[in-house]
Amino acid sequence: MPLDWRSKLIHSQATAPEGFRSLATPTYRGSTTLFTSAADVTDHWDQEHVRYSYGLYGTPTSFELAARIADLEGAHYCFITPGGQAAIALIYLTFARAGGHVLVPDSVYGPSRALAERLLSRLGVETEYYDPLVGADIRHLLRPTTQLIWCESPGSVTMEVQDIGAISKAARQAGVVTALDNTYAAGVLFDAFSAGVDVAMQALTKYIGGHSDVLLGSVTTRDHGHYQALGDARQLLGMGASPDDCSLAIRGLQTLAVRLDQLERSTLAVARWLEQQPEIARLRHPAFDSCPGHGNWKRDFAGSASIFSVEFAPSMPRDVIVRLLDELKLFKIGYSWGGVISLVMPHFNLRRRLPNHDPSIVRFNIGLEAVGDLIADLEAAFSAIR
Ligand SMILES: Cc1ncc(COP(=O)(O)O)c(C=O)c1O
Repeated sequence: MPLDWRSKLIHSQATAPEGFRSLATPTYRGSTTLFTSAADVTDHWDQEHVRYSYGLYGTPTSFELAARIADLEGAHYCFITPGGQAAIALIYLTFARAGGHVLVPDSVYGPSRALAERLLSRLGVETEYYDPLVGADIRHLLRPTTQLIWCESPGSVTMEVQDIGAISKAARQAGVVTALDNTYAAGVLFDAFSAGVDVAMQALTKYIGGHSDVLLGSVTTRDHGHYQALGDARQLLGMGASPDDCSLAIRGLQTLAVRLDQLERSTLAVARWLEQQPEIARLRHPAFDSCPGHGNWKRDFAGSASIFSVEFAPSMPRDVIVRLLDELKLFKIGYSWGGVISLVMPHFNLRRRLPNHDPSIVRFNIGLEAVGDLIADLEAAFSAIR
């Protein structure tokens, strides 16, 4: 049928030559995805059975990213979400129900705490905070209504490294689901599934994206029932992820190993330098004895990453600490971490039950600048306030 030029714009017969082979994964965009026959029409999300039914559930680009993350983490299934916080929300909304009880470490990422307090409470779910170093004693906190034990290791800002094996074992014995925020380990420095975790998540925004220009999350599991429950909830919540962002994450994966190696070395060097300064009372870096749960890190982790915190001496006024941070030139002040640029962030009013004090904590994220320049930047800032 000869077409009007207006229709040709939309139903073009022109095609590019075949045979192009590239090293890069193509970026497949698409909301509508086509069925070959009206008889095949379905609105199911499960790519295991229906492959492609709607762009929201995934395109080859997002499925490739998901498959790569699942493979790296030793999981069987992976969902990509629009961000790390979306991954957290997906897990809570899948496993927590009205009348239920969830256990959350006191050191949990702030917006994860806020979700429990401001959203789950409205849905009739009770949140109880536990000491992140509780280990096997978590069993004393389990109730008949406990539906989920959340873990995050190391904890946000205060960096407590949890005994995930002991917590998962107690949970399994009681038939309770465990979920782990495994972002610090980039899904590779800590083996969540060997430790017995049921569901793991990462903010791919951090080390996988790696360049502070993409927001994505992942949720992984080995369990087919959990996969079905998570997939249903994800469809209902409309949590699609941009294929363009997925393509950036796939690119990021290729350099993850070299970035993590360098970040570990530079971070250890900066942390060692900071530890020597008289203004610093305590270093919270998983690879140092002074970090709560350091023994768990030594036993369970294959390395350390790019964030750590310092507690300033109580004699240091907060306005002086603020001046110190403002003096820094290479370290920028901003949220998030895992990129190539060094960051610093004060955390003065942490909502934590820390024993009887409210220390002035600052978190550092070390980037890929030359480590000598980073230390020189710190030296200049400390000199300026002394
Ligand atoms: C430990 C942890 N989990 C989850 C998130 C949330 O990730 P996103 O920023 O992609 O929502 C963050 C972000 O800072 C985080 O630090």
